[in-house]
Amino acid sequence: MRQYGRVDELLFRTGRADDADVLLRFWSIAAENSGRPTDTREAVERLLDRDAEALIVAERDGRVVGTVIAGFDGWRYHLYRLAVDPGERRRGIGRALLERAEKRLVRWGATRLDAMVLADNSLGQAIWATSGFSPQPEWRRWVKPL
Ligand SMILES: CC(C)(COP(=O)(O)OP(=O)(O)OC[C@H]1O[C@@H](n2cnc3c(N)ncnc32)[C@H](O)[C@@H]1OP(=O)(O)O)[C@@H](O)C(=O)NCCC(=O)NCCS
Repeated sequence: MRQYGRVDELLFRTGRADDADVLLRFWSIAAENSGRPTDTREAVERLLDRDAEALIVAERDGRVVGTVIAGFDGWRYHLYRLAVDPGERRRGIGRALLERAEKRLVRWGATRLDAMVLADNSLGQAIWATSGFSPQPEWRRWVKPL
């Protein structure tokens, strides 16, 4: 059995109104940034204003080392911005974030979670696969830029 002792030293918390700048810096180095528009301060502030609890942050000594957004729009349950500091990977932080995200969404009635994963993101696919997610090849995302 794998020990996740170091995860116990982390603080897991939800989002705070003043998180935007630190998150933008963190995601610029830790998140999967291909294939999507650049994050903006306004967009992050909108999330924190609308549902700060959707953001789950892992911190070590006040430093952000991981994030996930567990969003509920009233109908479906989506996970976004699963990211772990490159120097802190493979220590169970991603798994611990997903466990907390799942608990939050189950409290809102979730019976199914989803995440968008780039087809060539093997790191991402590894953690989703081991966490019980599987791809739905029969679906494609359709988008309309505004
Ligand atoms: C994907 C990511 C969040 C994983 O975070 P992490 O803290 O390293 O993951 P964990 O240590 O909790 O790993 C959980 C499991 O995922 C799988 N996994 C994670 N990293 C892996 C790797 N490099 N190779 C193979 N499997 C891996 C393993 O099954 C692992 O369990 P194990 O260590 O007991 O074998 C991290 O690599 C990351 O931030 N990647 C860049 C951003 C990204 O791609 N996010 C996903 C967007 S869809």
